[in-house]
This record gives sequence, C-alpha cells and structure tokens, in this order.
Amino acid sequence: MTESETMRLPDSFLVGASTAAHQIEGDNTTSDWWMLEQTRPERLQPSGRACDSLHRWEEDMDLAAAAGLNAYRFSVEWARIEPEDGVFSQSAVDHYRRMVAGARERGLEPVVTLHHFTNPLWFFAGGGWLRADAAERFGRYLESVAPVLDEGVRTAITINEPNMIAIMHRVISGEVDLTKGLGGGMPLPDPAVTDALIAVHHTVREQLRAQHSGLAVGWSVANQNVQWLPGGEDAAAACSEAIEDVFLRAAVGDDLVGVQAYSRVVFGPDGLVEPGPEVPRTSNGWEYRPEALGEALRHTAAMVPGVPIMVTENGISTRDDEERIAYTTGALRGLADCLADGIDVRGYLHWSLLDNYEWGRWEPTFGLVAVDRDTFARTAKPSLEWLGAVARSRELP
Ligand code: BGC
Repeated sequence: MTESETMRLPDSFLVGASTAAHQIEGDNTTSDWWMLEQTRPERLQPSGRACDSLHRWEEDMDLAAAAGLNAYRFSVEWARIEPEDGVFSQSAVDHYRRMVAGARERGLEPVVTLHHFTNPLWFFAGGGWLRADAAERFGRYLESVAPVLDEGVRTAITINEPNMIAIMHRVISGEVDLTKGLGGGMPLPDPAVTDALIAVHHTVREQLRAQHSGLAVGWSVANQNVQWLPGGEDAAAACSEAIEDVFLRAAVGDDLVGVQAYSRVVFGPDGLVEPGPEVPRTSNGWEYRPEALGEALRHTAAMVPGVPIMVTENGISTRDDEERIAYTTGALRGLADCLADGIDVRGYLHWSLLDNYEWGRWEPTFGLVAVDRDTFARTAKPSLEWLGAVARSRELP
C-alpha cells in the first residue's frame, strides 16, 4: 500500500487497549511480585497502589469507551482469586465478573488474560511453574473463575508472554544479572520452564474449551523480532528458536495467537548488535521501530499458519504523545499491509491504556492516559482520542 491509501477494517475488527492487573490495580499484596518488590528495593520500585484501578476500573473503561475504542484487554489476578493455597475469594470473582459485564455495557469487547506475570506467593514459593502439579493448580484457579468467563468473555489468553516468564525465572533466581548488560547475547528462556509452560497451556486450553463453549483460547507471545546482519544468521536462528519460535509452535491448534511487538533485536558476526548512537530510541531505551509490528505479524503468520492473530500489545514508552501517534501510525501501516496480503489479523490492542507500573519502574510511560501518581487523577492524552478515531472510522492509515 502507498502512504496515501487507507484500508477499511472489517466490521468485527477490534481496536482497543490493554492493561494487566498488577500494573494498574494496586496493593497486590498476596503476589510474588509484591514480595520481590519488598525484598529487592535496590532493584525494584514498589508498585504500591499502582493506578488504583481496583477501585477506578469503571473510570478507566469510561475513558476507553468515550474515545471510541471497542475492546479492552485486562487480566484476572490469580493472587487475588486464590490468595492462599486452596482458599478462593468470592468477592474477587465477583469483582472480575463486574468488570466483564461493565466492559460489555460500555461496548468494549473484553479480552481477558488469565495470567499476566504474577503468581500467588504460595504458588511461587512452592516452585512455581516447575511444580509437578502446576497445571492442576492453575486449572483449579481457572475453574474458580468460570463465572467470570461465563459473564460474556469470548476471547481468553491463558498466559501472557510465556517466553518472558521463562527468561524472568533465570533473572529472579539470580542466574542472569540484567544489570551487568547483555554481553553480546540475549538471556534465553530456562528450557525446563519453557517445557512446563507449554504443557500447562495445552492442558488448560482443553479444559477451557470443554468448560466454556464458544470461548476462543490462545496465548500471547513477546515477539522479539530476531534479525541479523551478514554473519549473524546462525546466532539469530538459535536465539529466535529458543526465545520465540518454540512458543509460537505451541500455539498451533489454538483458537488465536496474541502478537506483542515493540522493537527488534539484531545479531551480527560478533553476537548481539547494540543500536548505534544514530538510531532513535524510545524513552525506555529500546530501538524506535514502528515496523516491528508488521514484521512480527508476518513471522507469526508463517510460524502458526491458519491460526487467527490478535495484536494483544504494541506501543511505545515516550513522554512525547505526538511520537506515540507517529509510532502507532507506522505500526498500523504495517498491520494494514499484512491485512492486504491476506494475513488473518482480528484486532489491535494498544499497550497501554494507562501510564502504569512497568515491572520495577515508574519512569516508562506507555499510556494513552496519564495517571497522577499522588491523586490517581486520569488525563487522556491526544493519542487516546486519535486511536478512538481509528476505531470509529474503521480506517487504518
Ligand atoms: C508486557 C507488559 C509490559 C510491556 C512493556 C510486555 O512485555 O506484557 O506487561 O508492560 O511489555 O514493557
């Protein structure tokens, strides 16, 4: 497509925004991340009350709906539902039921993530995903949230970014120290955690399908967009296999696969190539690369043929909202080209609705909406209105 052309989106195409419970709700005190924040304050800023969305979720949804978005991705927090092993909170289940109903009432299609990085502390302390009964315990939690799904969820993501979870396992255990730099390589996922997550995903996919007819089930992968310069082909292929492709192949047979793309990594003959000073970066240090979305969509479509794709995350950390609009325009252009080429993309969910807790840091700002850290007052940025206009007009740049 040329720059001046626009593409009309199918009527069913979702245009919305994404969030995750721990990053916005606040006081997630029974989770492993909360514990890590308390015990590693030199590395991790505390999430505290986050964006207080536990109490302000209606305001968040109102903002998204008023702008014209038609979908909202949020996560159910296992640590709230099952704060102690085998103890389930009815009030937490009711809370997320109200959220699903609230999204529907506002014309927002709820896309529900069932696990977004955080675990109940008891699950983590007992070995996390490497526990022999991980699938059974996760499945038991999913059974307890059946009323949430039955409230009207049509799309569920079992596990957000399993590839990042398998990398973080090595960081949390101290085996990889990210503060020492990447040293020419990328920290790769722990293979045992990779295998465990794939097994869990396949088990609970069948459970969810059996218990909720019509529910589309998939998982979302952090697309690393592994690329190479001459001489870097082998290193790039090995990295792509371990960090991404094994997780994409596990989505064969799913009802959808979530693409989450922000930037890329490049290998040369001497390993990972750090972008030079001439390469523009986002405020959190990643290479500015709007093309990442189209690249990730094409890679995913090739790896998982026949499985519909949903962009479950794409966005930019920046203080300059015009840059956010420019980045997203570029990303959507890549998406439009993919649609024109027949790739089955069903929706675009921007990361993120809110400036939120970015896993140990408050400085990165990915939001379409700013949140005052003291008062929690929300201020929509122009990018929210802009994305809402895309949703309303159903036209991609
Ligand atoms: C995660 C989000 C995170 C975002 C930006 C993804 O890896 O799913 O939780 O905030 O990227 O870093």
